[in-house]
Amino acid sequence: MNLLFVAGARPNFVKIAPLMRAASRYSDIDAQLVHTGQHYDKAMSEAFFDDLDIPRPNVNLDVGSGSHAVQTAEVMKRFEQVVLGQPVDLVVVVGDVNSTLACALTAVKLGISVAHVEAGLRSFDRSMPEEINRMLTDRISDYCFTTEPSAEQNLLREGVEAHRIFAVGNVMVDSLLFFLEKSSTSDILARLGLPGHRHGYALLTLHRPVNVDNDGDLRRMLEALNELAASIPIVFPAHPRTRLQMEKNGVGLSSRIRVIEPLGYLDFMHLMHKARMVLTDSGGIQEETTVLGVPCLTLRESTERPITISTGTNRLVGSDPKEILAQARLILSGAVPQGSVPELWDGRAAERILAILHRKLLDRVVAANQDSDGSCCAMAVGK
Ligand code: UD1
Repeated sequence: MNLLFVAGARPNFVKIAPLMRAASRYSDIDAQLVHTGQHYDKAMSEAFFDDLDIPRPNVNLDVGSGSHAVQTAEVMKRFEQVVLGQPVDLVVVVGDVNSTLACALTAVKLGISVAHVEAGLRSFDRSMPEEINRMLTDRISDYCFTTEPSAEQNLLREGVEAHRIFAVGNVMVDSLLFFLEKSSTSDILARLGLPGHRHGYALLTLHRPVNVDNDGDLRRMLEALNELAASIPIVFPAHPRTRLQMEKNGVGLSSRIRVIEPLGYLDFMHLMHKARMVLTDSGGIQEETTVLGVPCLTLRESTERPITISTGTNRLVGSDPKEILAQARLILSGAVPQGSVPELWDGRAAERILAILHRKLLDRVVAANQDSDGSCCAMAVGK
């Protein structure tokens, strides 16, 4: 069975690691990894392969940055050549980045089955590129693997047949639980001169175009965070696009907001685990803080991961400076959201996914053999 796994951007690497590990346990599966090169900086890509013990990609498409159309089209052109150059039974894509949609679309047009891991999530905000990528990828995938009940409901409502949907849990959580102990040995707190005990700082990440590409919003948000920093120091590993925007717009930051380079996986996990609170516009971090039990304030108007609010420690605060400050101060005063870990977020999602795919592919082989036996018999009878 020839499976092609696709990863392109930072959050994809975290999701692909447990899938590659689970695939390696099947002697009849040949698992190849394609890196599209959407993320290419050492800190955004190679560091994750090292930290997460991901095998080196069999192919790197080296697409790099570009507009959405250029990036998506480049991945499609280059991925098509890879798929045409070898036998492929199934393409596995994860998450919601441009590489996800590009590879799913390429495969399906070549008549190859597609599995989408983390299907069905919806923010209902079509201005987000990820929302478009998710909707279209789900539409054309043969197997939709979901992380939470809302995702299953979204897919059913959109007309995806129930037999294509599988509730399996969360591969991002697989990575978190697998590497939690190892991450606790990170010396990132000492390197940053932060207190070793829990709760001495807040952690911030920002990278969504809606937050960082609009100068006014970024400025207002950072002004609120400057004010918060008077009460608690903030560590801010900055995504390259955010850093660029801040430099371009000359946004002034409090000296208590420490802007650092993007961190590797293990360092970031440890920093998150020990933080008093996390402020973020990332999707995956909402899930990781829920599992770690760390309060999370999401600087967005909507979330595609509602279970992190209903069950976990996440709160939506949008980009309104007053609301950000009010909610952050509540946490500082000790009013910490108490959450629990959603069902199936137990570290075994990738195992379940591979077991399902293996069985489906075996069924296909059996059906194909029966077909060819049938046509032989029909021909023999015809003679
Ligand atoms: C992409 C995903 C987003 C995901 C995020 C994680 C899409 C539409 N968006 O957003 O869903 O949450 O990755 O980080 O696929 N850049 C570098 N070095 C890199 C990569 C990017 O400097 O290694 C800079 C470039 O200036 C580039 C910009 O960041 O133009 C944006 O990168 P891109 O991959 O287009 O989108 P992200 O914002 O990273």
